[in-house]
Amino acid sequence: MTTEQTMALDVKHLSKSFGDGPNRVTVLDGVNLGLEHGAFDAVMGPSGSGKSTLLHLLAGLITADSGDIRIGGVSISSMNDNDVTCFRRRRIGLIFQDFNLIPSLTAEENITLPLLLDRKTPDAGAVGTLLEKLGLTSRRTHVPLKLSGGERQRVAIARALVTHPDIVLADEPTGNLDSPAGRAFCELLRRMNEEDGCTILMVSHDPVVAATAKRVHLLKDGQFAGCFDTNHDAALVSARYLETMRK
Ligand SMILES: Nc1ncnc2c1ncn2[C@@H]1O[C@H](COP(=O)(O)OP(=O)(O)OP(=O)(O)O)[C@@H](O)[C@H]1O
Ligand SMILES: [Mg+2]
Repeated sequence: MTTEQTMALDVKHLSKSFGDGPNRVTVLDGVNLGLEHGAFDAVMGPSGSGKSTLLHLLAGLITADSGDIRIGGVSISSMNDNDVTCFRRRRIGLIFQDFNLIPSLTAEENITLPLLLDRKTPDAGAVGTLLEKLGLTSRRTHVPLKLSGGERQRVAIARALVTHPDIVLADEPTGNLDSPAGRAFCELLRRMNEEDGCTILMVSHDPVVAATAKRVHLLKDGQFAGCFDTNHDAALVSARYLETMRK
């Protein structure tokens, strides 16, 4: 088995620009990033530094100019649209800012949708355990409009986990960290990582959110400018972030 096959995520020399001619902006300029299985890493960087662009590339939602992305040892860089869509559904869990729940489906139907789209029959026991774990058992038949913000967040986590993906990608999963729901959300991600071994890559510009992760990578001027262990200490994350961005 090669090193690549043992990595949950292996990104090499990834570059992405937007626009043409004088309007061309290079957002990512030869980025390298590796996550072992069971890692919980965060990417931090100022607004516009390319955090969402990176996650969209890793999810195969947009294509890179150059470089390679391997997820669970499989390169998605050269896949066609159909293959990448299928791969994303089976092997990547996505938790994006707006959660993208389908309004007409119940909580449980939203959660099992990735399996149904793949023509798989959800395992009722496994789905029940997931609902229980996320405190959603009594809400399983509610449509999103009848769920609180925190409950919707938890449905989005369950939907990202239901396929047992190689990696969960979370982009600014909570824009409202001061709320108890925001803190609870970060705590849940941490439990999913520690208890179930889920590999998570989360993007945030907020040191308190990023401190939920075990390791932080700092994105600056199109490249990673530093990487450190958080010790789950938001003050440490904030200090390291400011120090690197000032350089
Ligand atoms: N489709 C696009 N076309 C043109 N420019 C784009 C496109 N998507 C992103 N950009 C530009 O790329 C840069 C990085 O954007 P990105 O959304 O990745 O930043 P971010 O780090 O996620 O910022 P934030 O913290 O505000 O969410 C920005 O300057 C943005 O304007
Ligand atoms: Mg963003």
